[in-house]
Amino acid sequence: MEKHSKLAGRTVMITGASGGLGAHFAELCAGAGAAVVLGARRLDRLENLAAAIRDRGGRALAVPLDVAEEASVTAAFDAAEAQFGPVDSVIANAGIERSGRATEISVEDFDAVYAVNVRGAFLVAREAARRLRAAGRTEDGRIVMISSITAEICVPGLMPYSVSKAAVSHMTRMLAREWARRGPNVNALAPGYMPSDLNAEWFASEAGRQQLDLFPRRRLADFTMLDEPLLFLLSNASAQVTGSVIKLDDGQTL
Ligand SMILES: NC(=O)c1ccc[n+]([C@@H]2O[C@H](COP(=O)([O-])OP(=O)(O)OC[C@H]3O[C@@H](n4cnc5c(N)ncnc54)[C@H](OP(=O)(O)O)[C@@H]3O)[C@@H](O)[C@H]2O)c1
Repeated sequence: MEKHSKLAGRTVMITGASGGLGAHFAELCAGAGAAVVLGARRLDRLENLAAAIRDRGGRALAVPLDVAEEASVTAAFDAAEAQFGPVDSVIANAGIERSGRATEISVEDFDAVYAVNVRGAFLVAREAARRLRAAGRTEDGRIVMISSITAEICVPGLMPYSVSKAAVSHMTRMLAREWARRGPNVNALAPGYMPSDLNAEWFASEAGRQQLDLFPRRRLADFTMLDEPLLFLLSNASAQVTGSVIKLDDGQTL
């Protein structure tokens, strides 16, 4: 299945790989020669995807993972290591959105967004960094966070999600600074809107369609917009790139 080998020899854990962007990233990384570890809560979906990747000659393992739970993160890394050896790269992609006006949103929804988007990203990045250090492999280490253009713009009704993504962008810089001497590298992609379960309901609504009409190209972007930047950030070519948050949005914020 190896279409090219930019990631040959790498083991990449992708969180939130049971659908949307995460499933796309899993196929992309496997196609680039990496062993991929697929983590999320819906294990049946992960197993189907892992089987499909293996059928095409790739290496893939499905692991149950709730990124908000420390013990679950540790167990997922244990399982990955038992199969492929140390995980050298992580795509911290798992994310949820709970929309609502700030005056209406519940504390439970607010906390849920933070638990997954912020705590979850931290837990997987920290676990990877700790294990890479223990294995003496930090120079190879690559953490890619998935932030969002909403970290920088103000869309009414999207406050907890947007602020959580602003936290992810700054966490990227903070971890990159803390780990600059010993690694791993930490960078983020900040994508614009692409169609997925996360926003399907919104873009089916009148308000969502109006937002789309305001984008200069009047369209949602495609997952493939992220492919080359992601492969670069995971590859040996990005050894001197850390602490970068790369906006990729098809001009939606212009
Ligand atoms: N789509 C966009 O326009 C867009 C734009 C910018 C940024 N993003 C970001 O891209 C990432 C992926 O979004 P998407 O559009 O692909 O959304 P999606 O289709 O809803 O996928 C979200 C993924 O996160 C997983 N997940 C949720 N909670 C989890 C948890 N506690 N532990 C582990 N996995 C969990 C889900 O799997 P399970 O339910 O099986 O656990 C699912 O695989 C998110 O961080 C999102 O904020 C998306």
